Amino acid sequence: MRKPLVMGNWKLNGSKAMALDLVTGLNKELAGVEGCDVAIAPPVVYLDYVQKLLADSNIILGAQNVDTHLSGAYTGDISADMLKEVGATHIIIGHSERRTYHKECDKFIAQKFAILKERGLTPVLCIGETEAENEAGQTQAVCAKQIDAVIELLGIKAFNNTVIAYEPVWAIGTGKSATPAQAQAVHKFIRDHLAKLDADVAKQVIIQYGGSVNDKNAAELFTQPDIDGALVGGASLKADAFAVIVKAAA
Ligand code: G3P
Repeated sequence: MRKPLVMGNWKLNGSKAMALDLVTGLNKELAGVEGCDVAIAPPVVYLDYVQKLLADSNIILGAQNVDTHLSGAYTGDISADMLKEVGATHIIIGHSERRTYHKECDKFIAQKFAILKERGLTPVLCIGETEAENEAGQTQAVCAKQIDAVIELLGIKAFNNTVIAYEPVWAIGTGKSATPAQAQAVHKFIRDHLAKLDADVAKQVIIQYGGSVNDKNAAELFTQPDIDGALVGGASLKADAFAVIVKAAA
């Protein structure tokens, strides 16, 4: 019943020329692909440009961050309404790179989740443990805590029509993906954790895997029952590799 979502997170990469090249390639490679939703999240300055390139495409426009405020004296910030106005609907929040480099905490990320829901946008909530936490057997506790911050602020129903991306920090950009069995175990834990409060919410929530997903390992990851697509970094910058990943999920 869940439609997988494969989303490309371009991170701090790209230019107008690169966006033109990549989106033209994706529009061509992915025309007619059904059975999988596809989204791309370019850097915010290129959103308007990419939105125009996607005019006749089914590819969804996403963004990599949002501020908790809607307007005012917040130099450098971007509001949910601004993202909405340029056509971005799926907004990544809680990425481990923002948790690490910008010291974003669970409570702040929950506030971002809240503003996105309030403005009718779809949060893509990234969660996941570091290598040290993994080795200390804390994976489940970390994921539960990161999810519970949202539940405490907004209640379980807030997870209706949203996306969770399980991205173990040790797998991001390392070439060392979680195995399908490892990822499935955590995805099942996440779904069961939500189901303790609301089985229907748990059943419909999209849980993506992220961390060194590429054109070689995607198909096997997607055989797992609780893996509903992927959040892809490096491999989303090449149209052919990204298209292989999408088709593996479709
Ligand atoms: O958000 C996607 C991400 O962090 C994974 O990056 O380069 O390992 O696919 P990558």
